[in-house]
This record gives sequence, structure tokens and C-alpha cells, in this order.
Amino acid sequence: MTESGWCCHCCFKFIITTGFAALFLWLSLRTHKPKCSIEFFYIPALNQSLNSPSNSTLLFDLRLKNQNKDKSVYYDSISLNLTLVGAPDGTRRPVGNLTVPGFHQGRDKKAFRKETVEARGVDWKAVSRNGPVVVRLDFATAVRYKILFWKTKRENLRLGAEVKVNRQGEKDYPRSITLNSGAAVPSGSLMRVIWSFWVFVLWKFL
Ligand SMILES: *[C@@H]1O[C@H](CO)[C@@H](O)[C@H](O)[C@H]1NC(C)=O
Ligand SMILES: *[C@@H]1O[C@H](CO)[C@@H](O)[C@H](O)[C@H]1NC(C)=O
Repeated sequence: MTESGWCCHCCFKFIITTGFAALFLWLSLRTHKPKCSIEFFYIPALNQSLNSPSNSTLLFDLRLKNQNKDKSVYYDSISLNLTLVGAPDGTRRPVGNLTVPGFHQGRDKKAFRKETVEARGVDWKAVSRNGPVVVRLDFATAVRYKILFWKTKRENLRLGAEVKVNRQGEKDYPRSITLNSGAAVPSGSLMRVIWSFWVFVLWKFL
């Protein structure tokens, strides 16, 4: 093998090795945000067969899932706001809020938070006269992930969903409702960089 051929071979091996190292590092350090969904949502005042329009409670059950198979999650306290959407005069109106204490969630675990809120002075009867009631739930917290022995920096997690309530006072969907972040997360951008790098290497050397 000529000297330049050997050097090229060496360089190629080095690039492939660093490429693999970067890929494995990225795979083990990347984190997935927890998934949050509404499993149950009930406003007794809107249950037409119950006929208790003065009942001001609102009940719901939140499911929080740690989607990381090898990292646990530390949640800061969670702020939850409920807002009546578009009724009866088209404006948004706060209905109630609460704070759920922070907690630590193991790898790949799920947790449920059953909560009750006293809705402040909402005339549910008047509200439901204008058609189906829609309540928005906003969720805000910050999370840290535990990777092996250290914790990552805090990462804000802001999610929300709108819940349409039926004539039984329950959420009008048989399935759970996933809370979404309004903004699209630019996921996998590092992955794209790594792939482009490899394509470049293969194109250049093979
Ligand atoms: C609505 O009220 C009826 C009558 O009390 C009750 O049987 C039913 O379970 C209530 N609906 C829900 C969703 O809890
Ligand atoms: C809830 O409302 C309070 C007061 O307006 C605000 O500080 C907080 O950020 C809100 N939380 C969410 C989850 O939107």
C-alpha cells in the first residue's frame, strides 16, 4: 500500500469510528419529553340527568408518562389552568387553577393525578345554552432528566388541550386526550447532521 493510500485508509477508519461514537453518545443522551393526557374529565353541573347546575366542582384525571426507558424524570410543581373557551359571549374566561406538587418518576413509568377544582362563579346553565361547553386545560412545569449519575438542566414543558364536554358532563371522546405543545419540536436535527455526515463520507471515500 502506498503511503497516501495508508493515510487515506487510516483517515477513513477514524471518521467512521468518530461517527459511531457520536451516534451512540447522541442515542444515550437524547431525552424524550413526558407525555401527558386527560383520561377523565367531568363537570357534574353539566350532567343533564343529574340536574345539579349549582354544583361548582370540576373533576379530571391526568396521566403522565415517562417515555424514557433509561432515564428518570424530576418534575417541578405543575401549574394547571382551566379556561372556558368561547362561551357564552365568545371570550375566554378563567374557571380555576391549581398546582400539583413536583415528583420523581422512574424510567418508563406512568403516574395519574386525580384532581378536583372548584370553578369560580360559573353559571354552567347559561354557558351550556350556547351549545357544547369547551374547557381548555393548560399545563406548565419544568423537568430534569437523570442520566446515569447526573441530572440535566431544567427544561420547560408547556402543554394544553381543549376538552369538549357532552350532555352527561363528561369529555366527549371515548379515548384519552393528549396535551400538545403549540410549537413543533425540532426533533432529530442532530440525527440529520450525523446522517448527512455519513452520506458525505461514503460518497467521498467509496
Ligand atoms: C350523570 O348523572 C346520572 C344520574 O345521577 C349518573 O347515573 C351518571 O353516572 C352521571 N354521569 C356521569 C358521566 O357521571
Ligand atoms: C396560569 O395562570 C397564571 C396566572 O395567570 C400564570 O402565571 C401561569 O403561568 C398559568 N399557567 C399555565 C399552565 O398556563
